[in-house]
Amino acid sequence: MFQLNRHSDYRKNLDPVDATSLGMAAAEDAEAYLAWRGNAAPTPLRSLPALATELDLGAIHVKDEGSRLGLGSFKALGGSYAVVRLVLEEASRQLGRNVAMNELHSPEVRAIAGEMTVACATDGNHGRSVAQGAQLVGAKSAIFVHAGVSEERVGAIARFGALMVRVKGTYDDSVAEAARVASEKGWTVVSDTSWPGYERVPALVMRGYTVMVREALRQLPAPPTHVFVQAGVGGVAAAVGGHLSLVLGAARPTFVVVDPARAACLFESARAGRVVKVEHGKPTVMAMLECYEPSLIAWRVLYRVADAFMTVEEEDAIDAMNRLARPQGKDPAIAAGESGGAGLAGVLRAAADPEIREALDLSELSRVFVINTEGPTDAARYHQLVGMRPEGVIGAGDLAGA
Ligand SMILES: Cc1ncc(COP(=O)(O)O)c(C=O)c1O
Repeated sequence: MFQLNRHSDYRKNLDPVDATSLGMAAAEDAEAYLAWRGNAAPTPLRSLPALATELDLGAIHVKDEGSRLGLGSFKALGGSYAVVRLVLEEASRQLGRNVAMNELHSPEVRAIAGEMTVACATDGNHGRSVAQGAQLVGAKSAIFVHAGVSEERVGAIARFGALMVRVKGTYDDSVAEAARVASEKGWTVVSDTSWPGYERVPALVMRGYTVMVREALRQLPAPPTHVFVQAGVGGVAAAVGGHLSLVLGAARPTFVVVDPARAACLFESARAGRVVKVEHGKPTVMAMLECYEPSLIAWRVLYRVADAFMTVEEEDAIDAMNRLARPQGKDPAIAAGESGGAGLAGVLRAAADPEIREALDLSELSRVFVINTEGPTDAARYHQLVGMRPEGVIGAGDLAGA
């Protein structure tokens, strides 16, 4: 399914709060955080000329987040950055002065962090980031996972010293339980989604994601004409689309939000013109995108900056993973997790459909940009869907932590 954005605020300026939190100064602060970690190496940008030719497009570039900070996904940028910012805020409050990033390892700041516990619910990737951020600054973390999160993903979070809490039911149940326990115990909820009255922390998480855009704009030979980003609650799509619109203005690319058909909360919200919670149906293979209600801030950004919303099917996501693993011609192979290739799945669908091509003005001149948002974070699942082990995918790069 495909629809153009018909919201009455389409193409209007961002809400000033969002413009500040996703603008250049904010992105530079997030980049400074990476530099502080001493791990500022950009993730690779891969060009797929053979696939572009097959799809009658000018170029396809994939930002490959599989190696990000050893965590296997772009989520490494958001949760950990938010944790660090929250610790700095608390330390500034307690010490009565502005505490800078380079003081994070000082005994007095670590003592303050040591008294803090950050909590979140996760399908996997966000929890890893929050737990890693907490470990880095000496805070404690409690990560809530629902019944569907694989043991492999739980283990990958626990290795950062997080207290793991299994919750019966779905992701929504784990969100509710994390909020309940956190308020009982005085912990800070570091969620990647926002709701009425809870915006500041998820805005920090989204700010962390803007790092990808900064890097990509430096790596790309020319700015993209089209960008397709997959959505769970919409945080990453809003961070990418919002930052691009702020820094490129009228020259910004056509921006498309891609939802799994089985959890199409952004698509349905766009259709309704307001935030919509969709019914739970069958689970989607795009496990990290299985979200039934958009993030409030993400929606506020996307109804202004997204040009179109579309859905992809289960087989589209699996096809994208397989095409990335076994590329044509001299295109490099990329190991993409189930949710990682969903943006490309949107491109494959759009490029093959004459009506969508026309609606988006996709042509042999288009320079398309997508993000492989995760590497094979569940290796067993990857093997099942692609028929290869992640390490067998030539050119998959650094799979550390995947
Ligand atoms: C690999 C991957 N891709 C995309 C997303 C979607 O991000 P958002 O929920 O911010 O839309 C997620 C969310 O967890 C993810 O883990």
